[in-house]
Amino acid sequence: MELGLRGRACIVTGASRGIGAAAARALSAEGASVLLVARDASRLEAVAGECERAATIALDVTRADSGERAMAACRERFGSVDVLVNNAGAMRVRPLQELTDADWREQWELNVMASLRFMRAAAPLMAEQGWGRIVNVSSSSGKRPSTSNVAYAVAKSAQLALSRAYADAYAASGVLVNAIAPGPIESPLWTSAGGLADQSAARKGVDRERALEEARSKIPLGRFGTEDEVAAVIAFLCSERASDVAGAAWSVDGGSVPSIV
Ligand SMILES: NC(=O)c1ccc[n+]([C@@H]2O[C@H](COP(=O)([O-])OP(=O)(O)OC[C@H]3O[C@@H](n4cnc5c(N)ncnc54)[C@H](OP(=O)(O)O)[C@@H]3O)[C@@H](O)[C@H]2O)c1
Repeated sequence: MELGLRGRACIVTGASRGIGAAAARALSAEGASVLLVARDASRLEAVAGECERAATIALDVTRADSGERAMAACRERFGSVDVLVNNAGAMRVRPLQELTDADWREQWELNVMASLRFMRAAAPLMAEQGWGRIVNVSSSSGKRPSTSNVAYAVAKSAQLALSRAYADAYAASGVLVNAIAPGPIESPLWTSAGGLADQSAARKGVDRERALEEARSKIPLGRFGTEDEVAAVIAFLCSERASDVAGAAWSVDGGSVPSIV
């Protein structure tokens, strides 16, 4: 299927590794230009090297001016902003009683305020040109709160609500806003040393393989998703082909959330 992304100018946050890096590669493979955003400049350069036409900007997305700075960089480098993927995120296993105000604020800033600021900067530009796509990377935890980190789950739910509000506000201008809700994905978030697999194992007092096995057993598909599987859904939602999809909260979770909406 031709996705019609050739020549589109895209911004992907959290593009230095994991799902964001895979999304950048997928958009690039479709002929799009991609501005990669994250904090680690050298990792961004490495991912850019895997893309046909890419630029990088090292930014902390929780800074108040990051959205504006990313839009300016994308327009300067590629001439417009056609696609935005709000993907940057982080999570640590932490029971409800241990969550501090700082933990709650961090998740709110990362998932809600950063997505808001990037959309607030991007959507009017897209509306002006009469075409745009925004994908907000939420989580299955946003649909069915997980106990691993309730601050993360609550912020991901709010990100879904924010995404829907932007979809309603901008659909008539040709700017289609959607969210995706991945389940457990084999990205560095889970698999890196000290990542969620190791953290879950330590909390449960089991070894890493046992913790992964427990997580897998909760997924109807029986396995974690891959970064590329999530990236394929992101690329489709960013594409010309998703022309009748707006306000969705698209599950990419191997069937984890037992819901029909
Ligand atoms: N993996 C999963 O199982 C899973 C499931 C559901 C939802 N998700 C969501 O999918 C998204 C991507 O997750 P992932 O699994 O790919 O995680 P990951 O491998 O840990 O990658 C996270 C990315 O976000 C960037 N990032 C984090 N904080 C940032 C900040 N303050 N400013 C700029 N960039 C920041 C990181 O780059 P730097 O460190 O270089 O800044 C990195 O590129 C997140 O929103 C996550 O919540 C993941």
